[in-house]
Amino acid sequence: MSHHPRVRCKALHSKIMSAEEAAALIQPGVNVGMSGFTGAGYPKAVPVALAKRIMDANLAGQKFKIGVWTGASTAPELDGALAMVDGIELRLPYQSDPVSRKKINAGDMEYLDIHLSHVAQSVRNGFYGKLDVALIEVTAIREDGALVPSSSVGNNLTWIESASHIILEVNSWQNAQLEGMHDIFKDQDVPNRVPIPLSNPSDRIGEHTIRCPIDKVIAIVETNSPDRNTAFSPPDASSKKIAEHILDFLDFEVKKGRIPPSLLPLQSGVGNIANAVLTGLNKGPFENLTSYTEVIQDGMIDLMKSGKLRMASATAFSLSPEAQEDLNAHMGEYRTRIILRPQEISNHPGIIRRLGCLSMNGMIEADIYGNVNSTHVMGTKIQNGIGGSGDFARNAFISFFMTPSTAKGGAISCIVPMVSHVDHTEHDTHVIVTEQGLADLRGLSPKKRAQQVIEKCAHPDYKGPLREYYRRALELSPGKQTPHLLEECFGWHTRFLRTGSMRT
Ligand code: COA
Repeated sequence: MSHHPRVRCKALHSKIMSAEEAAALIQPGVNVGMSGFTGAGYPKAVPVALAKRIMDANLAGQKFKIGVWTGASTAPELDGALAMVDGIELRLPYQSDPVSRKKINAGDMEYLDIHLSHVAQSVRNGFYGKLDVALIEVTAIREDGALVPSSSVGNNLTWIESASHIILEVNSWQNAQLEGMHDIFKDQDVPNRVPIPLSNPSDRIGEHTIRCPIDKVIAIVETNSPDRNTAFSPPDASSKKIAEHILDFLDFEVKKGRIPPSLLPLQSGVGNIANAVLTGLNKGPFENLTSYTEVIQDGMIDLMKSGKLRMASATAFSLSPEAQEDLNAHMGEYRTRIILRPQEISNHPGIIRRLGCLSMNGMIEADIYGNVNSTHVMGTKIQNGIGGSGDFARNAFISFFMTPSTAKGGAISCIVPMVSHVDHTEHDTHVIVTEQGLADLRGLSPKKRAQQVIEKCAHPDYKGPLREYYRRALELSPGKQTPHLLEECFGWHTRFLRTGSMRT
């Protein structure tokens, strides 16, 4: 019997080597397309070995940096390890690593924050330069060289097709029964695009595996390491309130006949609030749900277990260690109800519009007119990135943005006169929700929106000052369509930067 049961393609056995040997094949200055989406499916051994190699080069006085392109965020063994040794010249398209965040905000690392659905076509068309190496974790390599993806798909198909060289990590920790869960569909490039034949979240339109030109494979590293996602906190009082407001709203929309009793395909963003909404849905009246989303988090697995969620389509798992254990124990069963797709398809604007997703994402702050900042703290410091929130919000049937009404123990109001950075404009925001209430902005002019946002969503401590800002803006603003006091509209942010509080 083969000593490499997961590397079933015999022709590739000669490429099996250690992580250190594989890392030695990555040269300074190259762009590396890595697998990984949240803490799922990222390469776990070569990035650490590469970080060591970069550190040794730095100690010898040599500059060694690479471009790191991924699906989305990864884990400390990848982003953290490479950022720690100053090994990243440019990072794209999304990250949430604390070390990287610090380096980016200190000006020591370049970061390109991109709509996740745009990345693959931009790379294929050379917008970001040449992709030198694809470094991809897989569950197995089949006899014919085809790759069985692991717990995320992300941009792997594009990395494999576009890179000059391929390094594979074959992770035997990943459940062998993942084989068959993926749906790998390749979108064409302009001007040869044709409609993508997907009209239900459960439609399978591609292949189970990624075809791999084996002559491009320069190294294979065998690993046995778990994915690493952080655990979710149990929903706190504020998240529970936000979830309740959303459930009441959905109930109302169903009664109005605007959405069916099984709702529409759900998209649920990252973080604890999104997870709390899913937990709320599990106790709610809606049955036979589906999801067309980016990541499958704990709440979705719970909804599947209870039978409320019929199936889920995504590009990656983002599970706590406990939920991951449960998934692994019942993989055969879940495999029939979960589809993992390339992120170009899971986040495809045309499909999101076609399916009419209900899209729920977290935010940093919103302004009184409905503009949303998802990415920048006090306008200049990146938190994570836009991720898929723009893909979904712009194209959803109903787009929700959620946040507690205050941050930093009440020193910050998350509802402000004008957002300090714009990711989603007033045109893309349908509903804003805080623990205080829900503002349905559909069909409202800017002045009516301002009143709703202030009255429904602002924290009581900031309601008075917001009303006062709006009253004075209405009186003094030269234009009355979207009244603002341009010299004052960032006054809340500058006060926080000066005094540590937005309070007067
Ligand atoms: N001003 C300044 N800081 C703020 C803030 C505000 N208005 N609102 C929140 N913060 C701070 C919090 O205090 C916290 O700081 P800490 O890390 O020092 O504790 C940090 O921002 C994160 O806030 P938290 O309440 O823990 O947020 P979260 O986990 O719910 O995430 C986002 C909120 C916006 C950061 C997150 O949803 C995100 O990255 N969104 C963009 C990507 C996205 O939507 N992806 C899903 C698409 S499928």
